Amino acid sequence: MNRNHAVAATKMSQLLLMQLRPRLFSTTSHFASRSSIMGPSKIPMDTTIGTARVLAMHARNWSAHASDLGTNKKEDNDQKAPWEAYEADTSIDMKKHHKPVTWNDKIAFGIVQALKYPTHFYFQKKHIHHAVLLETVAAVPGMVGGMLLHAKSLRRFEQSGGWIKALLEEAENERMHLMTFIDVYRPKWHERALVFAVQGVFFNAYFLAYLASPKLAHRITGYLEEEAVNSYTEFLNDLEKGVMEDMPAPAIAIDYWCLPQNSTMKDVVRVIRADEAHHRDLNHYASDIQCGGHELKEYPAPIGYH
Ligand SMILES: [Fe+2]
Ligand SMILES: [Fe+2]
Repeated sequence: MNRNHAVAATKMSQLLLMQLRPRLFSTTSHFASRSSIMGPSKIPMDTTIGTARVLAMHARNWSAHASDLGTNKKEDNDQKAPWEAYEADTSIDMKKHHKPVTWNDKIAFGIVQALKYPTHFYFQKKHIHHAVLLETVAAVPGMVGGMLLHAKSLRRFEQSGGWIKALLEEAENERMHLMTFIDVYRPKWHERALVFAVQGVFFNAYFLAYLASPKLAHRITGYLEEEAVNSYTEFLNDLEKGVMEDMPAPAIAIDYWCLPQNSTMKDVVRVIRADEAHHRDLNHYASDIQCGGHELKEYPAPIGYH
């Protein structure tokens, strides 16, 4: 390697380190780090205030700022948080399982089983740690599927039957699960590094799987969601048995799922588990449509749950 190459390599590694350092070693919240660029607000980020309240305050600050600039036409003092609140359907069947029959099902089931055991071994009974990392992965399939269907709709000048919206709703819902859990647990630097690596692998692997076989990709997600339901059932059982101490529900969860003010983590886990069961059914349904030789757009998507 000549001197020019060595200098270029050193500069590249310094640049990469500068990019990665805040992601891997930051101990402040994302919202806190944004506060300096969002305006002159003096929000005490190190207090026990929930992210929901912080976001609502930022939304108000932004609204006032936009009003000052003359760009906000709304007369009312809109304090809406930047998410769509809804009430989860907790009556959904938590035990439903799609029996693997075809080769497509068996491959998908095998992949999920192979991923399940090392994950359970790694986290054991650390339910909140498990949930944080699980949700960083769970929010990927909906976004990838929605993005690819979006691109297909543009290319073919055709409707998607509501499936783009349904999958993007799923991705957003999963991201809100993550936003809820990071209110009570901040991942350590090695967990952030793990998330960084897993996202790089999983996003690309799922993207390729969806391109190659959407019916396989949806079946994999269906089985991943079944495992998510099982994991949250274990989490809930440990909270109910007192193995794990219950705690007040994060403010963001109370706002997002329209929960009573005195809700606890048990209530939060119940609504999140119901969401996962809904994702399970949606993805198995999508795979069933395609396994039957049809396109998703031929069957209206179950939208509006969230
Ligand atoms: Fe989730
Ligand atoms: Fe899910």
